[in-house]
Amino acid sequence: MADFFDLLKTRRAVRKFKDEPVDHDLVMEIIRDSCLAPSGGNRQSWRFIVIHDQDLIRRVSDDSKANLIADLDRNPESSARPYETALRNPNFNVFYNAPCLVIICGPLSSRSVVVDCALAAAYFMFSAAARGLGTCWVDLGARIQEPALIEEIGLPPDHRIVAPIIIGHPAFIPGVPSRNEPKVLKVLP
Ligand SMILES: Cc1cc2nc3c(=O)[nH]c(=O)nc-3n(C[C@H](O)[C@H](O)[C@H](O)COP(=O)(O)O)c2cc1C
Repeated sequence: MADFFDLLKTRRAVRKFKDEPVDHDLVMEIIRDSCLAPSGGNRQSWRFIVIHDQDLIRRVSDDSKANLIADLDRNPESSARPYETALRNPNFNVFYNAPCLVIICGPLSSRSVVVDCALAAAYFMFSAAARGLGTCWVDLGARIQEPALIEEIGLPPDHRIVAPIIIGHPAFIPGVPSRNEPKVLKVLP
């Protein structure tokens, strides 16, 4: 198993996967590791939806894309503008044809839902990297709205998606993208 400090470098956003399924038991082990994350008041307001079905992953991608494109069409300030070319390409799968998608979501009633799920997502990505798997948090896949699709994937109406994460056997692990120097605003003796 990788040393933790190596892991900080080997956990990268992976967007190209081998044509190989991910074992469901392994995904469950990674989910169990995610639940070791800290959470507000130990509320653990994370829930997980695991999708192995390629056709369903594609349909989640298509619905999210359609909603992002609709936003691009009506809103000049759309946050999706930097991704417009890719989103308008009908062949673009926001989930990069990954073999598995894990959606981390949680109840809207929990005031720490976003932070709890984001921490679980970080643990998920590190646990997967330690096991030689690649992941990428794909926010472009979070905009699903089609009621039938929401019901099919099992997202309860009073829950929100925080982190859709793809997982698979990486075709390769990219290098560390450049990082800014830490912006330490003040050091007080
Ligand atoms: C909140 C969040 C949303 C992201 N959304 C996307 C996305 O929609 N598509 C994508 O390809 N990568 C997405 N990423 C991955 C980032 O682009 C990636 O983490 C960043 O470029 C740094 O690369 P690294 O993870 O290898 O350090 C997202 C990452 C985070 C944390």
